[in-house]
Amino acid sequence: MSRMDDIVSLCRRRGFIFQSSEIYGGINGFWDYGPLGAELKRNLKNAWWNDIVHRELVGPDGKPIDMVGVDCTIIMNPKTWVASGHVGGFNDPMVDCRESKERYRADHLVALGSTAPDARLYVYVDGDEEQMAKAEKSLTKYERRDALDPAVHVRRSFVVLTAEDRARAIGPHAKETGTLTEPRMFNLMFETHCGAVRDENSKAYLRPETAQGIFANFWNIVDTSRVKVPFGIAQVGKAFRNEVTPRNFTFRSREFEQMEIEFFIKPETANEWYAFWRDYRFNWWQSIGLTSSNLQLREHDRDELAHYAKEGAGTSDIEYKFPFTDPGFGELEGIAHRADFDLKAHATHCGKGDKMRYFDQEKNERYFPHVIEPSAGADRGTLALLCEAYTPDESRASKVYMKFHPRMAPTKAGIFPLVNKDGMPEVAERLWRDLRKTWTIDMDEKQSIGKRYARMDEAGTPYCFTIDGESLTTNTVTVRHRDTQAQERIAIDSVRGWLAERIG
Ligand code: GAP
Repeated sequence: MSRMDDIVSLCRRRGFIFQSSEIYGGINGFWDYGPLGAELKRNLKNAWWNDIVHRELVGPDGKPIDMVGVDCTIIMNPKTWVASGHVGGFNDPMVDCRESKERYRADHLVALGSTAPDARLYVYVDGDEEQMAKAEKSLTKYERRDALDPAVHVRRSFVVLTAEDRARAIGPHAKETGTLTEPRMFNLMFETHCGAVRDENSKAYLRPETAQGIFANFWNIVDTSRVKVPFGIAQVGKAFRNEVTPRNFTFRSREFEQMEIEFFIKPETANEWYAFWRDYRFNWWQSIGLTSSNLQLREHDRDELAHYAKEGAGTSDIEYKFPFTDPGFGELEGIAHRADFDLKAHATHCGKGDKMRYFDQEKNERYFPHVIEPSAGADRGTLALLCEAYTPDESRASKVYMKFHPRMAPTKAGIFPLVNKDGMPEVAERLWRDLRKTWTIDMDEKQSIGKRYARMDEAGTPYCFTIDGESLTTNTVTVRHRDTQAQERIAIDSVRGWLAERIG
């Protein structure tokens, strides 16, 4: 089993993540969070909200940052998505295999083989080591010898293949040539209908990003809050994309959650705010436990930029080295300079145009603010936390433990009476009742102490407090540290302060 298979299996076994509607065979691209996973994801979202909306942050201008939160609807007036460009352009190229009935993203397919018109092309999904090895093995001796000569033997993206090339291509799960269709554009938005009549007039969409709820409310917020540019609006919520090929566990899902900031600025300050948010967000992921060697910042090339970012100060991705991308990296968060694309588009489409420009009272001027957008995935973030925490350790009964940052850990502490008699359960229960007023605390009275530690190790609980015979006479407990397995004795009365110091 691969490391990723091990992580998926632990998530299932310990109740972090289940397939949605598993009892009916599941549904591709949808996932449920169990008790531990729900706490983990909530800790991530709370930390983001707290650090972005509540905590005082100082911007590159040396002043405290103004940030407010919103909670907008998933279904919006469909004109929103015409203005944002999603109805016209939120497409992925899709390819079907007539033989295997598999469906692929054309831009994820690579064709390998000679340029000779009668040679076969072997197609594999980029990043799938097994398929790539199979394709390489299928080459003839002659083709393999020329593998390093790009004039003879090429790897090309499927999207650039001609009709003649496609006719000699063999799909990743096919035996015959010419069974892959021409790429077709496929709109990723989920459609629904509002009201009793299902026709074009009642058509609506599930939002593919939370950002547009923020843009459409920009004017409401300027009118009702005391914010002045520069300021930000933050939102956490569900987004839906009918992904052609959902895969890699929760990494590419059809229903997922985003944590987005739209930060409104004066156009001439774009460079400094872009650099500020890019660096702040990169450091933030490290502050909640992702190690720097597993993270990278990647500036986009100009040809990768989204339609709204073409003329901007820059776009970069914060990427994490997931086990299924290793040695490569996968996107965790994007930071984009969206310029004034969205505000202008909504102003135009709602028919008010330049009247919607922001009024700067100090300078007595009107303009459309520019936007720096740090947009992160809560599910990808949770997946990165799970992958980072997963630590095999043969010396432990559990053989593995989850090394979550204490702030992220789903359960902050376990409380165990050593035996279920002699007053120990009563002392344990008193401590449990007190600590759970503040934190998620697990009280476990069953099985041997070793088995109880093993359960907590797999759940990633950083500390366990055991009440033993000595506790009754000295008013102390033992604390067991998850990562080192070291134990120490502390006074029962000091447990709350001790935990607060480490968890906050
Ligand atoms: N408003 C900008 C925007 O939506 P994006 O790069 O398409 O930009 C932002 O999405 C983040 O949302 C990504 O960095 C990723 O973490 C998350 N995300 C996007 N598509 C996803 C999917 N299909 N499954 C899980 N997370 C996804």
